[in-house]
Amino acid sequence: MPHLTDDPAYTDLIERALARLDLGAKARLLAGQDLWSLPALPEIGLASLVMSDGPVGVRGSGWTPDDPALTLPSPTALAASWDPELARRAGRILAQEAHRKGVHVLLAPTINLHRSPLGGRHFEAYSEDPLLTARIGTGYVTGVQESGVAATLKHFVANDAETERFTVDNHVDERTLRELYLAPFEEIIAAANPWLTMSAYNAVNGSTMTEHRPLQVGVLRDEWGYDGVVVSDWLAARDTIRAIDGGLDVAMPGPHTVFGPALAAAVREGKVAEKTVDTAVRRILLLAARLGLLADAAPAVPDALRPAPVDGTACAREIATRSFVLLRNERQLLPLDPSRLGSPRALDPAGIGGIALIGHAARHARILGGGSATVFPRSVVSPLDGLRAALPEGTPLTWVRGADLSDGLSPASDGFTLRAVLRDASGTVLGEQPLPDGRIRWMAETLPGGADFDALETVELVGTFVPRTGGPHEFGTRGLGTFRLTVDGATVYDGVHRPTDADPLAAITGPPVPRGAVDLTAGEPVEVSLLASDPKTTYGSLRGVTFGLAHREPIGEDDQLIEEAVAAALAADTAIVVVATTETVESEGFDRAGLRLPGRQDELVARVAAANSRTVVVVNAGAPVEMPWRDDVAAILLTWFPGEQGGAALADVLLGDAEPCGRLPTTWPATLDETPVHQVTPHGGVLRYEEEGFIGYRAWQRHSSAPAYPFGFGLGYTDWQHEHIEADDARTVRVQLRNTGARPGRTVVQLYVGPADPATASGPPRPDRWLAGFAPVAADPGQTTDVEIALPERAFQVWDTASGAWTMIPGRYTVHAAHDAVTPTLSTELHITG
Ligand code: BGC
Repeated sequence: MPHLTDDPAYTDLIERALARLDLGAKARLLAGQDLWSLPALPEIGLASLVMSDGPVGVRGSGWTPDDPALTLPSPTALAASWDPELARRAGRILAQEAHRKGVHVLLAPTINLHRSPLGGRHFEAYSEDPLLTARIGTGYVTGVQESGVAATLKHFVANDAETERFTVDNHVDERTLRELYLAPFEEIIAAANPWLTMSAYNAVNGSTMTEHRPLQVGVLRDEWGYDGVVVSDWLAARDTIRAIDGGLDVAMPGPHTVFGPALAAAVREGKVAEKTVDTAVRRILLLAARLGLLADAAPAVPDALRPAPVDGTACAREIATRSFVLLRNERQLLPLDPSRLGSPRALDPAGIGGIALIGHAARHARILGGGSATVFPRSVVSPLDGLRAALPEGTPLTWVRGADLSDGLSPASDGFTLRAVLRDASGTVLGEQPLPDGRIRWMAETLPGGADFDALETVELVGTFVPRTGGPHEFGTRGLGTFRLTVDGATVYDGVHRPTDADPLAAITGPPVPRGAVDLTAGEPVEVSLLASDPKTTYGSLRGVTFGLAHREPIGEDDQLIEEAVAAALAADTAIVVVATTETVESEGFDRAGLRLPGRQDELVARVAAANSRTVVVVNAGAPVEMPWRDDVAAILLTWFPGEQGGAALADVLLGDAEPCGRLPTTWPATLDETPVHQVTPHGGVLRYEEEGFIGYRAWQRHSSAPAYPFGFGLGYTDWQHEHIEADDARTVRVQLRNTGARPGRTVVQLYVGPADPATASGPPRPDRWLAGFAPVAADPGQTTDVEIALPERAFQVWDTASGAWTMIPGRYTVHAAHDAVTPTLSTELHITG
């Protein structure tokens, strides 16, 4: 990627544009004009710059299903591929989507670390390891930007949990900050130069990040030479002077921010130097030039040089299969042999053979995590759809729910035909809009029909619902306000919902609240209305309308659901149970309370496994869950949040058309209590990273118990033998390995290094060994293959706080080739000199 800042023609152009802007225009350019964009400045030929989340798809400027997005597997899944080239392809597809939607900046990737499995956005970050995070992030950013779209590294920095997320002050010692939390930012910036970095909500060591001059200017600019734009997380900029002086370039979202007119005023009053504003404006102009939004500036990637279009659907499916982690596969149950699935079941003479597919998520797949990472998929292939399409004609396939995911209210979509009606105080209709999933997310400036926000008095979400099943249907509301909910003429809820939750984005990102049930008859339409009589929400500078209707169909009693599942498992040849977390478990905005699966899913798995020894459990979760039954089932396949093609990918893997190639990017504990680092609750506003750099496998090495599955772990459908390892003085390691199994396959060669003799090793405390390199490889049965992995200098350095510099720790190091963090195979030694 050319470094445009080095190009004098660019510099000239930017200087000339800057010189033509008055203070007011410059200050305006540093502030969002609405939720997602910066203003156009026609006087210098600058077009408006549009941003969008990120990271699994490109949501676009709306927040509703009428603007669907190709939905890829979630970041933990992408990282489980351990394949930066695959991440690069993901980046290219997302850039393709961005171009389609007129988006210039993708607000991704999220490269914070998995410090605790309780972190609500764990699913949205890559790994507990900074090197793996950096490599996947580099691939992703490269793919996005080589296609002419800007990527955004977020959230800078130590934004690793959600509790008190706007105010929490994370106390992290300098060495830990450098070696762990800053490390992925540093490496990705050096390797792929993302054009934006997002400043986080939290504070670090006493200063909120949007005002953190030592990190945003000292480290990012002065040390790393970063030339991109620093944009605030949404609503994270709180103070005009401290933010601009602290190194923040852009305050989002608009239209009311601490920059814009407030910044111009601060300059006029002599409180901010105009040259500080100019520096930030130059960066926006450079970004705009790179994107082709500034007149006369050639974009960094001319249209003709963009990579060829990719088939997004096929790629979403491939990424999913490459991310699935096979955690257990007794007696090689997987892949299933489709030919035996058609025969009657021996165990139960009345049985019908085939597959009993069990679980709420088998039909209602959970394909992505909650919060700002939510996009609206174009269509979803559930496990049921995927298997149905892939199984040979005539193979029995039954689905039963098995367990009620107690908090499972979903957007009102299936069976609903709804529209929103906006009215003023006199009842006159100001605007109308169809609502495919009963969710409203409008900004004040862009109400349907151009309705005037100030005149708006009520919004009614109204229409019909045709139930698929009879019985008690539960209805709920999302968002804040005064609501009246009626179904079939009966009032289900009439009240005010204003929780004291300090999180101003809760109305947008928060889960629905159940309000009551109504008995309905299958197939008989009923009228539904949700009237919001004070629909306007204002959070700081944000003004809009955000609420919605949620619903859950009758599910049946828990005991009965489990008995149905057991009966189905008994009658089938193979039972596949899909267990899952829900939106109230894994989402932005709050941390998890525990790692247990919601509802009675653990009991369901135990009962099904007792009934059928051929039980496969599919874990549909973005982050670790406890699996108390893990030694009692035949197979466990972790599918993460697999994106819109998840069900198709699942069928590919279960039936052997594809191999599950994933390796855990994060340690999977047996229980929360046994997890060495899990604290996410601040005390007195402060969260201390007391464990210093010992998170993830680095912590487990010093811990009394072992995790359920270690970092790096994953089986496949073939076997591998590491046959030879050697290292040279240039820190290049060669590993020879052989596919000793019967089918072509893929694996990941992982290299861990550590002091050869820890007792005499010099330097500060370090883990026993740490990941220093890796390479995904593929080979045919019997084939030998060689990989060459260059170990970075940084693998042998520590941050020396006294000198404020990286220092090489000389000595003898063992380099282990390994299948995972605790299973080394071969080793060799490297002598590192200072
Ligand atoms: C999130 C960011 C996101 C932004 C815009 C914030 O709440 O932390 O990751 O990009 O919203 O949706």
